[in-house]
Amino acid sequence: MGFILKKCLLSLLLLSVLLLSAGTWAYADVKLPPPQTEGGMSLFESLKKRASAPGGDFPIAPIEPEELSTILWAATGLNRGEKGWTVPMSKGLEPYCKIYVAQDEGIFLYDWQIHGLIEISKENIRAKVGSQNFVKTAPCILIVVADGKALSDNFNERDSAEFAAVAAGAMTQDIYLAAAALEIGARYIHAMNLEEIRRALSLPEEDYPLCLMILGK
Ligand SMILES: Cc1cc2nc3c(=O)[nH]c(=O)nc-3n(C[C@H](O)[C@H](O)[C@H](O)COP(=O)(O)O)c2cc1C
Repeated sequence: MGFILKKCLLSLLLLSVLLLSAGTWAYADVKLPPPQTEGGMSLFESLKKRASAPGGDFPIAPIEPEELSTILWAATGLNRGEKGWTVPMSKGLEPYCKIYVAQDEGIFLYDWQIHGLIEISKENIRAKVGSQNFVKTAPCILIVVADGKALSDNFNERDSAEFAAVAAGAMTQDIYLAAAALEIGARYIHAMNLEEIRRALSLPEEDYPLCLMILGK
């Protein structure tokens, strides 16, 4: 009897270990390398260089993790202590627009707290998020999404819409400038496949995609 009980307990233990490991396999969070915060092209030089890479000939070589790190940090990273970001947010709130990254490896959410990526899915949706052909071949697609709950918890409907757009504008301009400084092709894209993005990112009803920034070298 004691032997059977021990065997049962052992099987239960083994099952829990397997289930726990399955959980960790499903979510591979990635710590990004430190962003570049010194040296490089001057701000004035990158302002002179800021431009959208032409759609017709959009670059298709992938960008390096160090470059992605710098671009995400420029877009909405912490730049002073635990409550200061590279982009202004109304009332100094935490960023109420999120950035998802779609690459061959899958879909990730940028987490400014750890300066890392949280895996959302292993699906490669690059070819499905935009309607224009060159968007389908862009190696890295940033998807800017309004955090509906954070916005409605703090603002009325009109301010929510305006503040989300202002935040997305600041974030995408920072992305343009960082991309120019790193000599990476970038382009703002409004023509999105909203349903596909909602599905692939498992967005809650209140969140809504605002725009894409496509990147490539
Ligand atoms: C609000 C907005 C929406 C845009 N939507 C698209 C788009 O859906 N597809 C596209 O190819 N470019 C899009 N663009 C990029 C513009 O076409 C590009 O910024 C414009 O031609 C000016 O070029 P520049 O960025 O080099 O100054 C968009 C830009 C903005 C600001």
